[in-house]
Amino acid sequence: TRLYVPNDATAIACGADRVARKLNDALAARGQSMDIVRNGSRGLFWLEPLVEIDTPAGRVGYGPVKPSDVDSLVEAGLFEGKTDHPLCVGLVEEIPYLKKQTRLTFARCGIIDPLSLIEYKNLGGYRGLAKAIEIGPSATVEQVFESGLRGRGGAGFPTGIKWRTVAAAPADQRYIVCNADEGDSGTFADRLIMEADPFCLIEGMTIAGLAVGATKGFVYCRSEYPLSLEVMNKAIEIARANGLLGKNVLGSQYDFDMEMRMGAGAYVCGEETALLDSLEGKRGVVRAKPPLPAHKGLFGQPTVINNLISLATVPVILDKGGAFYRDFGMGRSRGTMPIQIAGNVKYGGIFETAFGISLGELVNDIGGGTASGRPVRAVQAGGPLGAYLPVHQFDTPFDYEAFAAKDALIGHGGIVVFDDTVDMAHMARFAMEFCSHESCGKCTPCRIGSTRGVETLDKIIAGTKRDANLAILTDLCQTMKLGSLCALGGFTPYPVLSALTHFPEDFGATPKLPV
Ligand code: NAI
Ligand code: SF4
Repeated sequence: TRLYVPNDATAIACGADRVARKLNDALAARGQSMDIVRNGSRGLFWLEPLVEIDTPAGRVGYGPVKPSDVDSLVEAGLFEGKTDHPLCVGLVEEIPYLKKQTRLTFARCGIIDPLSLIEYKNLGGYRGLAKAIEIGPSATVEQVFESGLRGRGGAGFPTGIKWRTVAAAPADQRYIVCNADEGDSGTFADRLIMEADPFCLIEGMTIAGLAVGATKGFVYCRSEYPLSLEVMNKAIEIARANGLLGKNVLGSQYDFDMEMRMGAGAYVCGEETALLDSLEGKRGVVRAKPPLPAHKGLFGQPTVINNLISLATVPVILDKGGAFYRDFGMGRSRGTMPIQIAGNVKYGGIFETAFGISLGELVNDIGGGTASGRPVRAVQAGGPLGAYLPVHQFDTPFDYEAFAAKDALIGHGGIVVFDDTVDMAHMARFAMEFCSHESCGKCTPCRIGSTRGVETLDKIIAGTKRDANLAILTDLCQTMKLGSLCALGGFTPYPVLSALTHFPEDFGATPKLPV
């Protein structure tokens, strides 16, 4: 019998380390011995720290457990897996939030000890790489193409085409770069993988290396994730020691090794070319494209730069086949998406599901509505540069094209919920302020436009020449959309204009009927 207490940044912030210590003390005081596994989080954050114990029927959970709850839990029979305690949530796999999910990328998260290779392999780990070795590089690229996987950073570019481009680019050295600079508000999927299932990312990057002929990989991890860095570094060492990184991986003729790199906190370094500059040791400034990173990327060499979730999804695609993955989803959005539900919401966490679920289902049925108990007013999808969607658009399916048709983006899959106390004019101002703060400064519409945007919104909020300033703001947004070099300046108008379109009353205008 084993006890599980997550070693995950969210769970630790909620007291998981102290809970683990108290459980250890309680076991010692009773003369009992039991392994306490520090698993990753299952991503049901409102239950963290979620303590679990093996029972013949499956793992029984208790949460959220505070250190002060440990004594009463032990008295109520926690160590025997008894369920008679108000914090008991019963069999974890039966929790509807978890049961309703389709976990392909996150299949092992929260279940295994993140640093146990044996547990990783027992749940399908390294079957994908074995398959890639068996079928060879070009068939591996074609499996990824066949799966319909599109870039999970937000642009949704077909991963298979990107890999084909890199594989076909003549070079002595190619690179795999993982974008783990997870800067969007309300997103945490990359972090969960790194802390809960690090070998999944290592395997995904190794498969990418084999597929395109790259022998070296880098993970660019955001500076705010020190625990992810620690877990990943340990996992990389274990993989190396077990012949899974380095020369002749898994006994094959392919070589691949990888390293972690830490960012320094700039949001723009999540943009692929600024990330590459930063990785090369320079200040993170956006490069003009072309050349595409696929042709001239890291150190001028052909580079696959993919979001972490794209890479972590590759092992299951190779293991089960491109056609299996493609079977999930809708339209051109194939497979599953780990949707991160955050903000003012009752049940915040990760919900991996096939594309096509509606925004309303996510917010109300899965997320349980607002944590404050007040009515939902708006949801921002796709990070700080994503649009605000009003309740009357809650029938929008989670799908790249359906969101784009509403002038919105799914981005990295984060949704942030707001109740009816939100002031949308201030949220619009925040978008401009964020852009002025994070702009790399290379182009004028973003560098200057965002500052002028803040000033103009201040005048609108103060009621100064409102109509004239609203016209200036709309014009400015158009210039930023069309004239910015990258998505930071180019997408800042989305939250601003969506706030203005759907919530005009907050800008002092007469409300319009929903369109
Ligand atoms: P993009 O559309 O320029 O490129 C997408 C990816 O495909 C890039 O990796 C690019 O190098 C690659 N690519 C494009 N054409 C290619 C070709 N012919 N062959 C091989 N590779 C090719 O988009 P970008 O600038 O990388 O990202 C913009 C998107 O980022 C936006 O659409 C938005 O959805 C998203 N976004 C994401 C944020 C986040 O934090 N995750 C924040 C803001 C925006
Ligand atoms: Fe830099 Fe902004 Fe221009 Fe992007 S849009 S290149 S962040 S100045």
